[in-house]
Amino acid sequence: MAFRTLDDLDVKAKRVLVRADLNVPVADGKVTDDTRIVRQAPTIKELSEKGAKVIILSHFDRPKGKVVPSMSLKVLLAPLEKHLGRKVAFAEDCIGATPQAAVAALKDGDVLLLENTRFHKGEEANDPEMAKQLASLGDIFVNDAFSAAHRAHASTSGVARLLPNAAGRSMQAELTHLERALGNPERPLMAVVGGAKVSTKIELLQNLVKRVETLVIGGAMANTFLAAEGVKVGKSLYEPDHLETARQVIRMANDAGAVILLPKDVVVAKEFKAGAAHRTVPVSDIADDEMALDVGPDSIKAFENRLLATRTLVWNGPFGAFETAPFDQGTVAAAQKVASLTRAGQLLSVAGGGDTVAALAHAGVENDFTYVSTAGGAFLEWLEGKELPGVEALSSK
Ligand code: 3PG
Ligand code: MG
Repeated sequence: MAFRTLDDLDVKAKRVLVRADLNVPVADGKVTDDTRIVRQAPTIKELSEKGAKVIILSHFDRPKGKVVPSMSLKVLLAPLEKHLGRKVAFAEDCIGATPQAAVAALKDGDVLLLENTRFHKGEEANDPEMAKQLASLGDIFVNDAFSAAHRAHASTSGVARLLPNAAGRSMQAELTHLERALGNPERPLMAVVGGAKVSTKIELLQNLVKRVETLVIGGAMANTFLAAEGVKVGKSLYEPDHLETARQVIRMANDAGAVILLPKDVVVAKEFKAGAAHRTVPVSDIADDEMALDVGPDSIKAFENRLLATRTLVWNGPFGAFETAPFDQGTVAAAQKVASLTRAGQLLSVAGGGDTVAALAHAGVENDFTYVSTAGGAFLEWLEGKELPGVEALSSK
C-alpha cells in the first residue's frame, strides 16, 4: 500500500483540490457528530499554512444527481470555519464557471468549499468528463476521505488519475492503522464481529477467518451460528437461510486453525424493550418464547481470557442490543476490557464501521482504542479484503 503524503508535496501557491468526506450527521441545520470534520481539518489547515490555495470537494447525503437544497454543503461552512480557525469561501457549484471564478479569486492560504459533488450525475457515474472538469480546478489532488474510498466516483477515483496526488493526514492515519491491524499485524490477532445479520457480513467473515487466530461472533448474528450448531434459539433474531453460511465459516475456521468464540451464556427476555424482565442462561437453556438480546458474564469471561493473550484486535459491531438497557452490558464490559488493555500498552485495538463507534461511545471508551475509524461502509469493505477504489487510485500514481 504505497501512497504519497503531504510530506511529499510542494504546495506553495498551488491550487490543491482536497476530497474530504463532510457527510456528517446533521439535524435541524446543526452538525450532531463532528468527528469527521475534526479528523480532516488538520489536512486543510496544514495545506493552507503551507501557502496552498485549498479547494474542498465533498458529497453530502444522497441527492442522486439532482440539486436538492436541503443537501447543500452550506451548512458545513460555519463548522468548518470553527475547526479551521479561519474564513472559508463557498461556491454554489463544483464544476463550471462558478467554481472557476471562485478558484481564480483565491490567494495563497485561502480555503474554498465547493457545493455537493453529488448534485451532478457524473459524480456517482465516475464520468470522465466530470473528473476532467474537477481536475481543471486544481494542480494537485489530495484525498482525505477514507470513509468514501469504497466509492469509485469522479471526485474520489476519477480525478485522482488526472492529477499528481497524495493522501491527506486523516487518510494516512486510517491506512496506517488498518495496515497495522490487519495487513501486517502483531500476532495473535483477534477480530470481533457483531451486528444483526450474517447475510450482510458473509465476505467479511470469510476473509477474517483466514487471517485471525480468534474470531469472536456477537450480536444477533451469533444466534445464527448457534442455531447452525443445533442450539435452540427460541424467538431470537436469526437467519434460517444462512445456517449453511455459518457452518461454512466454522469449517473455514477449522481449516485455518482459527478459534471461533460464540456466546456461552446469554441474556434473554420475552420482549424487546428497555428494562424488560430478563434472565441470564446458558445458551442451551433459551426457552421457546425467549430471545437472546446480549451475551452473559461467562461469555465475557471467555472473551477476556483470549484477549489477554492477544496483541492486535479489530472490532466491528456490538455484542448485544446495546441501544436498549440492560442489553448493553456485554458490549460495555467487552469494550472497557479492550480499552484497559490498550491503555496498558498490551494491545493494539482498531474499531470501525457503522454502529461500532456509537457502541464504544456508549461504553465511554471511544478515545481509549488505539484507533477508531471514521468510516462505515469503507471500513467493512476493507475488512472484506477488497481494494478500495479511492485508495487504489492514489497508489497507482
Ligand atoms: C458514508 O458516510 O458512508 C460515506 O460518506 C459514503 O456515503 P454513501 O454511503 O452515501 O456513499
Ligand atoms: Mg455509507
